[in-house]
Amino acid sequence: MDKLFSTILLLILLLISIFIHGTNCHEFSRKLSKKTMGLKRQKLSHLHFYFHDQVSGKNPTAIKICNTSVTGFGLLAMIDDTLTTGPEPNSKLVGRAQGVYAQSSLNDDSLLMVFNFAFVEGKYNGSSLSVLGRNSVMLPLREMPVIGGSGVFRFAYGYAQAKTYSYNVKTGDAVSEYDVYVFHY
Ligand SMILES: *[C@@H]1O[C@H](CO)[C@@H](O)[C@H](O)[C@H]1NC(C)=O
Ligand SMILES: *[C@@H]1O[C@H](CO)[C@@H](O)[C@H](O)[C@H]1NC(C)=O
Repeated sequence: MDKLFSTILLLILLLISIFIHGTNCHEFSRKLSKKTMGLKRQKLSHLHFYFHDQVSGKNPTAIKICNTSVTGFGLLAMIDDTLTTGPEPNSKLVGRAQGVYAQSSLNDDSLLMVFNFAFVEGKYNGSSLSVLGRNSVMLPLREMPVIGGSGVFRFAYGYAQAKTYSYNVKTGDAVSEYDVYVFHY
């Protein structure tokens, strides 16, 4: 009888230890509830700022990598452009647009934009939004998808609208006004 009792006890302990350790050992995927990730309510945010594409001067923030065709098709530029609250270059910095744009249309001035908004302002400091889209720079209003984000923008999706605020034909410097609408948690 004693022996039977201790065998059963051992079996129960074994089952408990399998239940505790066995289930997440070498586990590849599992279902999670939003609650356990701390995701409560989805928010919709609107961000407004000015995007300074500075190609001229001593300290350009956009640098041409290549421009081999006469039409400009294939032009590729790397950017680390500033984002500010106002259109003046010395107004409050809220972040930077880091990435590339490329002239990807044979017939008009249309850019492929691939960049991250890297924010430095307040609760957004350290968070980013990723943009991948088409920017037909001659149109009064352009729209690009926001395809993701990090930090406070985890699980983000939405869109960015851009309007040219000023363009210097001589230097190529441009300031665009951006309105970004994103869902995030
Ligand atoms: C690219 O090259 C073409 C042809 O040389 C020129 O007309 C155009 O201004 C250049 N674009 C830029 C951004 O430098
Ligand atoms: C943003 O965060 C960085 C790194 O944590 C810090 O050095 C910087 O001062 C912060 N900037 C602002 C404007 O709060």
